[in-house]
This record gives sequence, structure tokens and C-alpha cells, in this order.
Amino acid sequence: MKKLMTAAAALALLSAPAFAAGDAEAGKAKSAVCAACHGAEGISAMDIYPNLAGQKAGYLVSQLKQFRDGERSNPIMAPMAKPLSDQDIEDLAAYYSGL
Ligand code: HEC
Repeated sequence: MKKLMTAAAALALLSAPAFAAGDAEAGKAKSAVCAACHGAEGISAMDIYPNLAGQKAGYLVSQLKQFRDGERSNPIMAPMAKPLSDQDIEDLAAYYSGL
């Protein structure tokens, strides 16, 4: 019983949606500009642009915030992240992680 409850608690924690605020549909709408480099389905056509499809939402959120806030710098990508709000980032992460 105790084991079961621990498992249930762990499951609750796992599914505790750290990024539940992300809306994949909204993210898709916001991804038009990203598609130019990262591909329409999150698979890029060029070697220097990373694929985003299927990437973990938490990682995408973290990297986008780092680009936006100047903690990760890249002359191409950083300006793309600059105008994004936290909500934009969560929506985009929900969209790309679900592809
Ligand atoms: C003009 C091309 C271009 C556009 C447009 C662009 N990116 Fe990028 N993106 C890049 C490049 C280049 C990198 C790799 C940067 C590096 O090497 O550090 C990158 C990296 C990233 C990463 C980090 C991936 C990883 O594996 O670490 C994320 C996340 C990302 N872009 C999301 C987006 C989103 C979301 C948009 C739209 C708002 C977008 N990008 C628009 C060129 C672009």
C-alpha cells in the first residue's frame, strides 16, 4: 500500500505539468517565422539549423529563454527569441515537442 502510494505520488509529480501553460495550437500559429530555418515540421533542411521536432518541451523552454535573456548567444537565433513572451515560448515548446 505504501509502495502504491509512493508510486501514485511519483506519477502525480511526473504529470504535474511544469509546462501545462503551453498551447500547441497557438504555438503552431506562432511558429511560421521559425519554419524558415527549422523547417515546416520542425525538421530543418540545413546543417546549421537544429531540428526541433520531438525535442523535450522543458529543454525548448529553457533554451528559448536563454537566447532571449542573453545567457545563450547566437547571432542568428538570439534576435528570433528576443520578442518572445513567456507564453509564446511555452506555446512554441508545446508545439515542437509534440511533433
Ligand atoms: C534565421 C534562422 C532562424 C530562425 C528564423 C529561427 N531560428 Fe532557432 N535557431 C537558429 C540557429 C542557427 C540555431 C542554432 C544556434 C546555435 O548554434 O547555438 C537555432 C537554435 C534554436 C533552438 C535551440 C535548439 C537546441 O537544440 O539547442 C531553439 C529551441 C530554437 N532555435 C527555436 C526557434 C524558434 C521557436 C523560432 C521561432 C520563434 C526560431 N528558432 C527561429 C536559427 C533560426
